Amino acid sequence: MNKLNLRLVNNVETNIHILDGLINDCKSIIPDYSQFIIITDENIYNHYGQLLINQFYNTNYKIITCPPGEQIKSLNYVENIYSDLINFKCDRQSCIVAFGGGAIGDMSGFVASTFMRGIDYINIPTTLLSMIDSSIGGKSGVNLTAGKNLIGSIYHPKQIIIDPKLLETLPIREYHSGMAEMIKYGLILSKELFDTLEKHLESILSDLSIPINDLIVNCIDLKINIVNQDVRDYGIRNILNFGHTIGHALEACLGNEYIRHGEAVAYGMLYAAKLSNVKGSLSDSDLKRVIKLIGKLELPKLKNMDIDKILSFIKNDKKNVSQDIKFILLDSIGKAYVSQQIKYDDIKMVLEENEYISN
Ligand SMILES: NC(=O)c1ccc[n+]([C@@H]2O[C@H](COP(=O)([O-])OP(=O)(O)OC[C@H]3O[C@@H](n4cnc5c(N)ncnc54)[C@H](O)[C@@H]3O)[C@@H](O)[C@H]2O)c1
Ligand SMILES: [Zn+2]
Repeated sequence: MNKLNLRLVNNVETNIHILDGLINDCKSIIPDYSQFIIITDENIYNHYGQLLINQFYNTNYKIITCPPGEQIKSLNYVENIYSDLINFKCDRQSCIVAFGGGAIGDMSGFVASTFMRGIDYINIPTTLLSMIDSSIGGKSGVNLTAGKNLIGSIYHPKQIIIDPKLLETLPIREYHSGMAEMIKYGLILSKELFDTLEKHLESILSDLSIPINDLIVNCIDLKINIVNQDVRDYGIRNILNFGHTIGHALEACLGNEYIRHGEAVAYGMLYAAKLSNVKGSLSDSDLKRVIKLIGKLELPKLKNMDIDKILSFIKNDKKNVSQDIKFILLDSIGKAYVSQQIKYDDIKMVLEENEYISN
């Protein structure tokens, strides 16, 4: 078993366990609590509900099964969950187990961080995106109509339990979406990872039985290293938002039924790479490689986009302090930086000039 530690500045520690088939024995590594509240979604419950019940059957547990997708990341939904916790007589010794993708993890982590001023939680991610990204680093939250993740907290799970075998049932579309975040790590932090993806992404996407455990561990390692340097996201952690400024705006404009988080980030990275080429130092040849690799992902078409609406969502993006826009650019493949030099007009220019938006 791979065991990694996320050791945070204030000595809080999150243990991350990674092993094929770990879901079949996960209870053996989970400590005792007065009550477990397992929060999952209908799809995951259909695939793995019984397996999980087998693990928790001799504990005091309850299961909350949510509808799948982004709709649960709302204050209304969170309030429903608080009511369930009260009805279940949860106390501060109860533990929330988030069993799902990034939507379940973000929402459940937020509930755990706020219910009775914070109760423990354990994250068992089930999508590629949540294994390599959203489960690591403690960001939890919900959306407002004005934009994504505008309400939230930084609150770390006690444990993260990763079983890559769970990916066997993941729909191919969600796999592509997660791969976008993997490409992001290569672009911002690791030329080696980018090179590996250039060589193998196509075969991985055409044969999902190829094990990608090493790639998963590689991404987690890269994220832990950044998070440990800047847990509260005031400095270097910002670079993990590469592709997200425009990506979040696309999600907000188009809705997550039409465009998944990773898919929107893939477009966001294409635009950010173009801006890096026009305004920064990304070479033409690196830009071509970025476009080619992201081009291997299947993405929904961007149709009838209202560019002013995209820009207004970008203005609401929580990463922008006052009127200054913080934009993550690439110096080269594997090296990113935070720029304060990008203006809304620059973003408008790349959005208007590119071939991804069709009418
Ligand atoms: N907190 C963070 O740091 C962070 C980072 C990146 C993304 N996010 C958030 O993560 C969310 C996206 O997460 P996601 O891509 O995991 O999507 P998701 O949680 O919406 O799950 C996608 C779909 O896959 C299904 N599914 C999940 N696991 C499955 C499995 N093993 N087998 C079959 N079906 C399965 C789900 O039911 C759902 O329909 C977004 O809200 C995004 O903002 C958060
Ligand atoms: Zn993301």
